Amino acid sequence: MGDVLVVGSAGFIGSVLVRTLESRGHRVHGLQRGGADGPGVILGDITKPPVPVGDVSYDCVFHLASLTPMVRDAGVLRSVNVEGARNLFEAVRDRTDAFVYASGLGAYGSVDGVISESTPYRPDTEFAQIRQEAHQYLEDGCRGAGIRFSAVMFGDVYGPGGWFRDMLVKRIRAGTMMLPAGGRYRKAFLHVEDAAGIMSAVLNAGLERPAYVAASPQSVTFREFVWHTADALGVRRPRGVPAFAARLVLGKDLTKLLCTPTAVSGEAVSEIYQLKHADYGSGLDSSISALEGS
Ligand SMILES: NC(=O)c1ccc[n+]([C@@H]2O[C@H](COP(=O)([O-])OP(=O)(O)OC[C@H]3O[C@@H](n4cnc5c(N)ncnc54)[C@H](OP(=O)(O)O)[C@@H]3O)[C@@H](O)[C@H]2O)c1
Repeated sequence: MGDVLVVGSAGFIGSVLVRTLESRGHRVHGLQRGGADGPGVILGDITKPPVPVGDVSYDCVFHLASLTPMVRDAGVLRSVNVEGARNLFEAVRDRTDAFVYASGLGAYGSVDGVISESTPYRPDTEFAQIRQEAHQYLEDGCRGAGIRFSAVMFGDVYGPGGWFRDMLVKRIRAGTMMLPAGGRYRKAFLHVEDAAGIMSAVLNAGLERPAYVAASPQSVTFREFVWHTADALGVRRPRGVPAFAARLVLGKDLTKLLCTPTAVSGEAVSEIYQLKHADYGSGLDSSISALEGS
């Protein structure tokens, strides 16, 4: 197994991906903005070219560095998600055989039915449009440079960390969590171990497809997901709040992304990877146990 680079390696999904790839025998290099220096760690900021990427050639670069839709300033979002992607691509274009880009189901916009790899991209939030611009740039750039490319289009990734810990569990515990529009929309969730497992499987499969829709096909409303979390924590179930009130706190893009119903078929991913946590209930219980033990 050769060298791979994980960009955004200190993040929620990136940190689990590093461990997953290491356990499969890859020599993993991680590019991160901050955190502890150590073996395999490259400290760098993708908005500041030239981006440091070490001095080896990579079997694959996994790009997970991004800002979240909580950031409402389009200029700041663009500097990381579009300019950052360009800077990173320039740094690795002669140094890698393959490139895997992490994106989200927001790229498809509001879809009446099940999202699959053949669903057209129709982002209807500024956040997803900016992400899509980077996606297109990277896909075209890789094609032109003879680099294999796949995008992994994640549903809502939960687990012991990230937004799940900081925005959901902490707020549910504090009694400040509200369900935008009552939470009565179906969402497509994915456990973080499966998110990392799918990215690793995409590399193993030789980046066969230009995109993989990555979420559990299980149908669950946001309210069921949140209420299960509250019950597992042994605290009061959050109540609903109208979407216009949620927009004041979360911003319009995050509220829209959250309240847009999503469902996936999961067929393409099932050809290369078997989900460990297809059921959100057991995935949530193990995530909460891990958080309580940490
Ligand atoms: N989690 C989900 O539910 C979900 C769903 C759909 C798509 N995705 C996508 O999956 C990817 C990873 O998500 P995540 O949940 O792991 O997010 P995350 O925890 O916020 O990780 C993103 C990482 O990117 C880093 N980063 C931000 N700006 C940077 C810069 N200028 N230079 C270098 N690194 C920078 C952040 O570093 P700092 O820690 O220093 O800020 C952070 O560690 C993102 O592209 C995200 O959009 C995630």
